[in-house]
Amino acid sequence: MALPNLIDGRAIAELVHAETARRVEALKLRGVVPGLAFVRVGEDPASKVYVGMKEKTSVRLGISSTTHVLPETTSETELLALIDRLNRSAECHGILVQAPLPAHIQSARVFASVIPTKDVDGFHPVNVGKLMLADPTGFVPCTPGGVLELLIRSKVNTQGAEVVVLGRGDIVGKPMTSILCQKSQHANATVTLCHSRSRNVSEHCRRADVIIAAMGVPLFVKAEMVKPGAVVIDVGVNRVPDVGSKDGTKLVGDVDFAGVQPVAGLITPNPGGVGPMTIAMLMRNTVRAAEMFVGG
Ligand code: GUN
Repeated sequence: MALPNLIDGRAIAELVHAETARRVEALKLRGVVPGLAFVRVGEDPASKVYVGMKEKTSVRLGISSTTHVLPETTSETELLALIDRLNRSAECHGILVQAPLPAHIQSARVFASVIPTKDVDGFHPVNVGKLMLADPTGFVPCTPGGVLELLIRSKVNTQGAEVVVLGRGDIVGKPMTSILCQKSQHANATVTLCHSRSRNVSEHCRRADVIIAAMGVPLFVKAEMVKPGAVVIDVGVNRVPDVGSKDGTKLVGDVDFAGVQPVAGLITPNPGGVGPMTIAMLMRNTVRAAEMFVGG
């Protein structure tokens, strides 16, 4: 039986998918099939798995997906040429360039080359700016957007709450902070962003009503850092050595789940918490891109 304080990300993602699938059907009645293009450069094993999962979900929801796999040696110019083609394609409404890109390619230039109206990842500077300005015409990055959706659907009231975000990355920590301090019913939080140079991280955490761990340090959040009853969201995906497993590694989050779960009011399992929501938000962003394309 599921533990009573678990936030079931898989179940919540299915609720979002059901809404997205209805919007896909409505678009099809208007003669438009939402199209999502994946771009993967090189053979990073984790990226292969992530793109594979996103592709499978898009097919299930009736979104037409195309994956472009380029060799590790692809030049930045070649990659930009592909993105330019996708920017102009009438069948493609969303473009996702899977990170990380090979070291010889400047990721920032690549993300900025995706036309903002197809930037379903929310990485383009225009969309980053729109998020800062709370302009709803932009795209919100999928992982922090998914965390917000988990909080809303789990009825976590963030108004005036102390939220600690751990990690200052461009994909999760920074946009998460921006989302939660917005002047809106589902935000209005007092947000503290802690990072690798922060002092007294444990003290900040112990004051928090909500902790969002996204710094990429395996099992960083321990029971003694959590106020009893606090909500704990684990965004971390860390591969660590594991002598007992087939490939000698295993995945762990940023939260010591076994220790923290008895103290927390609500907690995400990992896997099965934030991960499925990232995919759900990508699908929702893609359908919105298609709706915007046809003027809806
Ligand atoms: N790599 C890790 N997370 C993400 C994400 O949300 N989008 C893309 N494109 N790449 C990622």
